[in-house]
Amino acid sequence: MDMNETVCFCAGVTVGEIKEAVEAGATSVEAVGKATGAGTHCGGCQPKIAELIAEFKK
Ligand code: FES
Repeated sequence: MDMNETVCFCAGVTVGEIKEAVEAGATSVEAVGKATGAGTHCGGCQPKIAELIAEFKK
């Protein structure tokens, strides 16, 4: 997985930043949003954020 890939275009948040947030304990879309800003604008990236949370919290 490319850690530099942008997940949330509104907030400019990358896969790597989501991974860090999940590893720091943000295990819901809402918590990742609070930690990174991702998914808090248009919301279009939220399904992708949910996928990444499932991937990284393993
Ligand atoms: S792309 Fe993430 S909130 Fe719009």
